[in-house]
Amino acid sequence: MLKGVAFDLDGVLTDTARAHYRAWKKLADMLAIPFDEEANEALKGVDRMGSLALILGDRPGHDEAERIRLATLKNDWYLEEIAHFGPEDLFPGAREALEQCRAAGLGIALASASRNAPLLIARMQVAELFDTIIDPASLAAGKPAPDIFLAAAEALGRAPAEMLGVEDAPAGVQAIHAAGMKAVGVGDRAALPDADWIIPAIADFDLAAYSA
Ligand code: BG6
Ligand code: MG
Repeated sequence: MLKGVAFDLDGVLTDTARAHYRAWKKLADMLAIPFDEEANEALKGVDRMGSLALILGDRPGHDEAERIRLATLKNDWYLEEIAHFGPEDLFPGAREALEQCRAAGLGIALASASRNAPLLIARMQVAELFDTIIDPASLAAGKPAPDIFLAAAEALGRAPAEMLGVEDAPAGVQAIHAAGMKAVGVGDRAALPDADWIIPAIADFDLAAYSA
Protein backbone atom coordinates (compact mmCIF):
# COMPACT_ATOMS: atom_id res chain seq x y z
CA MET A 1 0.00 0.00 0.00
CA LEU A 2 1.28 3.44 -0.93
CA LYS A 3 2.07 5.55 2.12
CA GLY A 4 4.63 8.10 1.02
CA VAL A 5 6.06 9.96 -1.95
CA ALA A 6 9.54 11.45 -2.40
CA PHE A 7 9.74 14.19 -5.00
CA ASP A 8 12.82 15.37 -6.81
CA LEU A 9 12.76 19.13 -7.43
CA ASP A 10 14.87 20.20 -10.42
CA GLY A 11 13.08 19.23 -13.63
CA VAL A 12 10.12 17.69 -11.76
CA LEU A 13 8.43 20.56 -9.91
CA THR A 14 10.12 23.45 -11.70
CA ASP A 15 12.24 24.17 -14.75
CA THR A 16 15.56 24.56 -12.90
CA ALA A 17 17.06 21.70 -14.92
CA ARG A 18 17.40 24.33 -17.69
CA ALA A 19 18.91 26.85 -15.30
CA HIS A 20 21.48 24.31 -14.07
CA TYR A 21 22.31 23.48 -17.69
CA ARG A 22 22.81 27.13 -18.65
CA ALA A 23 25.12 27.73 -15.67
CA TRP A 24 27.22 24.61 -16.41
CA LYS A 25 27.32 25.53 -20.10
CA LYS A 26 28.73 28.96 -19.22
CA LEU A 27 31.45 27.29 -17.13
CA ALA A 28 32.26 24.72 -19.82
CA ASP A 29 32.48 27.50 -22.45
CA MET A 30 34.81 29.46 -20.17
CA LEU A 31 37.06 26.41 -19.92
CA ALA A 32 36.71 25.63 -23.66
CA ILE A 33 35.27 22.20 -22.84
CA PRO A 34 32.68 20.91 -25.35
CA PHE A 35 29.34 20.54 -23.57
CA ASP A 36 25.81 20.28 -24.90
CA GLU A 37 22.33 19.24 -23.79
CA GLU A 38 23.06 15.60 -24.54
CA ALA A 39 26.14 15.63 -22.29
CA ASN A 40 24.03 17.44 -19.69
CA GLU A 41 21.68 14.43 -19.35
CA ALA A 42 24.36 12.57 -17.37
CA LEU A 43 24.61 15.49 -14.91
CA LYS A 44 20.93 15.60 -14.02
CA GLY A 45 20.41 14.62 -10.39
CA VAL A 46 24.16 14.48 -9.78
CA ASP A 47 25.47 16.76 -7.01
CA ARG A 48 27.51 19.92 -7.62
CA MET A 49 31.05 18.55 -7.23
CA GLY A 50 30.11 15.30 -8.98
CA SER A 51 28.73 17.25 -11.93
CA LEU A 52 31.92 19.32 -12.13
CA ALA A 53 34.00 16.13 -12.11
CA LEU A 54 31.94 14.82 -15.06
CA ILE A 55 32.54 18.04 -17.01
CA LEU A 56 36.28 18.17 -16.29
CA GLY A 57 36.75 14.47 -17.03
CA ASP A 58 40.43 13.58 -16.85
CA ARG A 59 41.73 17.05 -17.69
CA PRO A 60 44.80 17.73 -15.56
CA GLY A 61 45.46 20.85 -13.49
CA HIS A 62 42.28 21.21 -11.46
CA ASP A 63 43.17 20.63 -7.83
CA GLU A 64 40.58 20.68 -5.03
CA ALA A 65 40.84 24.43 -4.39
CA GLU A 66 40.38 25.15 -8.11
CA ARG A 67 37.40 22.79 -8.28
CA ILE A 68 35.75 24.58 -5.38
CA ARG A 69 36.37 27.92 -7.13
CA LEU A 70 34.78 26.64 -10.35
CA ALA A 71 31.79 25.07 -8.55
CA THR A 72 31.23 28.34 -6.69
CA LEU A 73 31.31 30.29 -9.95
CA LYS A 74 28.71 27.95 -11.44
CA ASN A 75 26.54 28.25 -8.34
CA ASP A 76 26.74 32.06 -8.45
CA TRP A 77 25.50 31.98 -12.06
CA TYR A 78 22.79 29.51 -11.07
CA LEU A 79 21.68 31.77 -8.20
CA GLU A 80 21.37 34.62 -10.71
CA GLU A 81 19.14 32.39 -12.84
CA ILE A 82 16.79 31.67 -9.93
CA ALA A 83 16.97 35.11 -8.29
CA HIS A 84 13.47 36.05 -9.42
CA PHE A 85 11.80 32.68 -8.89
CA GLY A 86 8.34 32.74 -7.36
CA PRO A 87 5.15 30.63 -7.30
CA GLU A 88 4.69 31.26 -11.03
CA ASP A 89 7.85 29.22 -11.69
CA LEU A 90 6.30 25.98 -10.46
CA PHE A 91 5.45 23.73 -13.39
CA PRO A 92 1.72 23.67 -14.11
CA GLY A 93 0.16 21.04 -11.87
CA ALA A 94 3.12 20.80 -9.47
CA ARG A 95 1.27 22.23 -6.49
CA GLU A 96 -1.75 20.07 -7.38
CA ALA A 97 0.42 16.93 -7.44
CA LEU A 98 1.62 17.69 -3.91
CA GLU A 99 -1.93 18.45 -2.83
CA GLN A 100 -3.17 15.13 -4.27
CA CYS A 101 -0.63 13.34 -2.06
CA ARG A 102 -1.60 15.41 0.96
CA ALA A 103 -5.32 14.78 0.42
CA ALA A 104 -4.59 11.03 0.28
CA GLY A 105 -2.81 11.23 3.64
CA LEU A 106 0.59 10.31 2.22
CA GLY A 107 3.88 11.44 3.73
CA ILE A 108 5.65 13.85 1.38
CA ALA A 109 9.43 14.24 1.17
CA LEU A 110 11.67 16.44 -0.90
CA ALA A 111 14.57 14.34 -2.17
CA SER A 112 16.67 16.80 -4.15
CA ALA A 113 20.45 16.69 -4.56
CA SER A 114 20.42 20.48 -4.64
CA ARG A 115 21.66 22.50 -1.71
CA ASN A 116 19.52 25.31 -3.14
CA ALA A 117 16.30 23.28 -2.82
CA PRO A 118 15.09 24.78 0.51
CA LEU A 119 15.52 28.29 -0.93
CA LEU A 120 13.58 27.38 -4.07
CA ILE A 121 10.61 25.71 -2.41
CA ALA A 122 10.34 28.68 -0.06
CA ARG A 123 10.39 31.13 -3.00
CA MET A 124 7.79 29.05 -4.86
CA GLN A 125 5.66 28.91 -1.71
CA VAL A 126 5.26 25.14 -1.48
CA ALA A 127 7.55 24.48 1.51
CA GLU A 128 4.56 23.87 3.80
CA LEU A 129 3.39 20.96 1.61
CA PHE A 130 6.45 18.86 2.51
CA ASP A 131 6.67 16.81 5.71
CA THR A 132 10.43 16.55 5.39
CA ILE A 133 13.27 17.97 3.31
CA ILE A 134 16.30 15.73 3.08
CA ASP A 135 19.57 17.63 3.38
CA PRO A 136 21.88 16.23 0.69
CA ALA A 137 24.91 17.41 2.69
CA SER A 138 24.01 14.84 5.38
CA LEU A 139 24.35 11.86 3.03
CA ALA A 140 27.35 9.63 2.37
CA ALA A 141 26.58 9.23 -1.34
CA GLY A 142 24.50 11.11 -3.90
CA LYS A 143 22.20 9.75 -6.63
CA PRO A 144 22.40 7.13 -8.18
CA ALA A 145 23.10 5.76 -4.67
CA PRO A 146 19.84 5.10 -2.76
CA ASP A 147 20.79 7.18 0.32
CA ILE A 148 18.53 10.19 -0.26
CA PHE A 149 15.43 8.05 -0.87
CA LEU A 150 16.21 5.79 2.09
CA ALA A 151 16.59 8.90 4.24
CA ALA A 152 13.22 10.12 2.94
CA ALA A 153 11.52 6.85 3.93
CA GLU A 154 13.12 6.93 7.35
CA ALA A 155 12.19 10.57 7.98
CA LEU A 156 8.57 9.82 7.03
CA GLY A 157 8.50 6.62 9.08
CA ARG A 158 7.53 4.56 6.01
CA ALA A 159 9.09 1.41 4.58
CA PRO A 160 10.74 1.97 1.17
CA ALA A 161 8.34 -0.59 -0.35
CA GLU A 162 5.45 1.69 0.72
CA MET A 163 6.97 4.65 -1.14
CA LEU A 164 7.05 6.14 -4.59
CA GLY A 165 9.82 8.34 -5.99
CA VAL A 166 9.27 10.96 -8.69
CA GLU A 167 12.28 11.85 -10.86
CA ASP A 168 13.30 13.34 -14.21
CA ALA A 169 16.89 12.01 -14.21
CA PRO A 170 18.27 8.57 -15.04
CA ALA A 171 20.51 8.79 -11.92
CA GLY A 172 17.40 9.55 -9.88
CA VAL A 173 15.35 6.61 -11.18
CA GLN A 174 18.33 4.38 -10.44
CA ALA A 175 18.50 5.75 -6.89
CA ILE A 176 14.76 5.17 -6.33
CA HIS A 177 15.00 1.57 -7.48
CA ALA A 178 18.16 0.97 -5.45
CA ALA A 179 16.17 2.14 -2.40
CA GLY A 180 13.46 -0.44 -3.15
CA MET A 181 10.78 2.02 -4.27
CA LYS A 182 8.71 2.33 -7.42
CA ALA A 183 9.60 5.20 -9.75
CA VAL A 184 7.47 7.68 -11.67
CA GLY A 185 9.62 9.18 -14.43
CA VAL A 186 8.85 12.68 -15.65
CA GLY A 187 9.94 13.11 -19.26
CA ASP A 188 10.59 10.78 -22.21
CA ARG A 189 10.51 7.02 -22.04
CA ALA A 190 13.70 6.99 -24.15
CA ALA A 191 15.58 8.97 -21.49
CA LEU A 192 14.09 7.02 -18.56
CA PRO A 193 13.68 3.46 -19.83
CA ASP A 194 13.58 1.90 -16.35
CA ALA A 195 10.85 4.04 -14.75
CA ASP A 196 7.76 2.07 -13.63
CA TRP A 197 5.48 4.78 -15.00
CA ILE A 198 6.26 7.64 -17.37
CA ILE A 199 4.42 10.94 -17.46
CA PRO A 200 5.37 13.72 -19.89
CA ALA A 201 5.05 16.38 -17.19
CA ILE A 202 4.10 16.70 -13.53
CA ALA A 203 0.67 18.00 -14.65
CA ASP A 204 -0.02 14.36 -15.60
CA PHE A 205 0.69 13.07 -12.07
CA ASP A 206 -2.20 10.76 -11.16
CA LEU A 207 -1.93 9.16 -7.76
CA ALA A 208 -4.72 6.66 -8.47
CA ALA A 209 -2.61 5.07 -11.21
CA TYR A 210 0.28 4.36 -8.82
CA SER A 211 -1.77 3.25 -5.82
CA ALA A 212 -3.21 0.05 -7.27
C1 BG6 B 1 20.10 18.31 -8.79
C2 BG6 B 1 20.21 18.78 -10.22
O1 BG6 B 1 18.77 18.37 -8.38
O2 BG6 B 1 20.88 19.14 -7.94
C3 BG6 B 1 21.66 18.86 -10.65
O3 BG6 B 1 19.50 17.87 -11.05
C4 BG6 B 1 22.44 19.71 -9.66
O4 BG6 B 1 21.72 19.41 -11.95
C5 BG6 B 1 22.26 19.16 -8.25
O5 BG6 B 1 23.83 19.70 -10.00
C6 BG6 B 1 23.01 19.97 -7.19
O6 BG6 B 1 22.46 21.25 -7.13
P1 BG6 B 1 23.10 22.46 -6.33
O7 BG6 B 1 22.03 23.51 -6.36
O8 BG6 B 1 23.39 21.97 -4.94
O9 BG6 B 1 24.35 22.84 -7.04
MG1 MG C 1 15.86 16.41 -11.34
